[in-house]
Amino acid sequence: MVTGATGTVGAELVRALSNRGVHVRAGVHSVIKGDRLRQFNPEVQLVELDFQRPETLGVALTGVDRVFLLVPLAETQVEDSKRFIDAAKAAGVKQVVKLSVMGAEAEPGIQLGRWHREAEQYLAQSGLPYVILRPNSFMQNFLTYQGASIRGQGRIYQPQGEGRASYIDAFDIAEVAAAILTADVARHHGRAYPLTGPEALSNNEVATIISQTTNHPVQYIDVPEEAARQGMQGAPQWMIDAIMELNALIRAGYTATITTDVQQLTGRPPRTMQEFVRVHRAEFLPA
Ligand SMILES: NC(=O)c1ccc[n+]([C@@H]2O[C@H](COP(=O)([O-])OP(=O)(O)OC[C@H]3O[C@@H](n4cnc5c(N)ncnc54)[C@H](OP(=O)(O)O)[C@@H]3O)[C@@H](O)[C@H]2O)c1
Repeated sequence: MVTGATGTVGAELVRALSNRGVHVRAGVHSVIKGDRLRQFNPEVQLVELDFQRPETLGVALTGVDRVFLLVPLAETQVEDSKRFIDAAKAAGVKQVVKLSVMGAEAEPGIQLGRWHREAEQYLAQSGLPYVILRPNSFMQNFLTYQGASIRGQGRIYQPQGEGRASYIDAFDIAEVAAAILTADVARHHGRAYPLTGPEALSNNEVATIISQTTNHPVQYIDVPEEAARQGMQGAPQWMIDAIMELNALIRAGYTATITTDVQQLTGRPPRTMQEFVRVHRAEFLPA
């Protein structure tokens, strides 16, 4: 079962598992939204799963062998994760592959990492066979969070200076997860894999790649943190604070590490930013 199945990573994983002929159940927040997953696999089984409605967990987990656990960003994400892990154990699940974040193990780390670390530790102590995936920032963030300003104004606004990050395509995270979920359970048990793309890029470099690959000029504007906070107005304060901590980490150069785990686990190199932009070219262009 893939949780978060209609999201950025989850939908890619439904595709990747379906391509391998795996019988996939998609745990979806909304069955109507889940219907689009049938494009990857008309046989995909949709089941309602709401982390905050415990009564949905046992039903969703019935008969499930192996789980990809993706708990979305929420103030309740630690409790949501723990409740789900308990339910998975009660249902006799044989492996949980948990999506975490790069640097989750760092002490004291940032809030986004600490939440994942607590859930990782709970999973490790649960007695369930498990694997942790710790990806760096997704290339998809340039569409999810920056897409509107890239398309509308040809601008990326971030308070990240010249800080670099080894962005990873969610496609590669899904390929890693699919490889692990279809391998022998014992092979990866207890391992934590830091996952990155093949290069560490600044926003200026990403803007250049988008401009050259789409022929739509894009420029990076390094904004003060206060302006970035204003730009997130309407989002809850805890979320704004957590994202600003991450921005400071990128600015200070802590997110540029490059790992070889994608290559080792999938047998091929991770996608470059240029390949990512080429695949998603239309989504970067003005309507
Ligand atoms: N973005 C990054 O750069 C980055 C980097 C490293 C790690 N991460 C981690 O990646 C995860 C986010 O992954 P993503 O970007 O693929 O997520 P996403 O695109 O935001 O998708 C979240 C998924 O969870 C579902 N969902 C929302 N609320 C739910 C609930 N109460 N119960 C069950 N399902 C629910 C959503 O369904 P609906 O749309 O129907 O609500 C959607 O399918 C987070 O744990 C984050 O910490 C992110």
